[in-house]
Amino acid sequence: MSEFLDVGVIGLGVMGQRMLARLAGHARLRATQVWDADPQAVARTLAAYPQLRAAAGAEALIASSGLHSLYIATPPAPHMALSNLAFDAGLAVFCEKPLTVDFDAARRTIERIEREGQRAAVNFSLASSPGLAALQAAWQEGPQGPIGEAQHVRIELAFAAWPRPWQAAAGAWLSERVEGGFTREVLSHFVFVLQRVLGPAVVRSSRPVYPPDGRSAERSLSARLEAGGIPVEVEARAA
Ligand SMILES: NC(=O)c1ccc[n+]([C@@H]2O[C@H](COP(=O)([O-])OP(=O)(O)OC[C@H]3O[C@@H](n4cnc5c(N)ncnc54)[C@H](O)[C@@H]3O)[C@@H](O)[C@H]2O)c1
Repeated sequence: MSEFLDVGVIGLGVMGQRMLARLAGHARLRATQVWDADPQAVARTLAAYPQLRAAAGAEALIASSGLHSLYIATPPAPHMALSNLAFDAGLAVFCEKPLTVDFDAARRTIERIEREGQRAAVNFSLASSPGLAALQAAWQEGPQGPIGEAQHVRIELAFAAWPRPWQAAAGAWLSERVEGGFTREVLSHFVFVLQRVLGPAVVRSSRPVYPPDGRSAERSLSARLEAGGIPVEVEARAA
């Protein structure tokens, strides 16, 4: 039996390429099959990694024999459908955040994961950061610890440009309201950290401001949340 666990990759844009580069040096995981809706992304990927095979489509990739898991790095809209196809095929799923733009589909999928014991994770990459570990440790020391008694939390995001330059090669979806915007793309990471430390958060109020074109993502957001009984203030904006 091979010492490697074979991973299929769907979505070969900015994040798909980053994951392929990481997998290339991994001791236990190995990318074997890839697919992207854009044939040019597939061609570029095969040129860089000639050992990979391109599937005929997402369903064909997921149904192929020998795969252990699927990494999904498409924009958010297809995440749920692809995850469920992978669960049907017995694969573990590592899905990029945000989980989805369809809350009902997400709730159904989370129930399924819990009911069937499916193996699934969302890539909130701060989960393994030393900063989060330090924050959790300090928080657990309580009022006598370095944080003292927490009165409130403030999360402030300010972008000189949206999308950010390192992700400028991503599709138009990133700057559009339906799937993109910095609230989903970036604030979600800090709400993840907030919930890891303080527990589940609820949104008390939110005021996003959108450009008048009806299509583009938010330019600013003011929101009030509460987590673990502590008020949380969010202020975010793009220049
Ligand atoms: N975890 C993190 O830190 C982090 C950072 C950046 C982005 N992301 C997330 O990763 C995902 C991808 O972001 P990106 O920056 O790589 O975007 P991108 O636009 O660079 O790449 C997306 C790729 O998916 C392909 N695609 C679109 N619809 C598809 C479909 N239905 N089936 C197959 N392929 C499809 C596109 O052709 C494109 O090549 C997003 O959900 C984003 O929010 C996560």
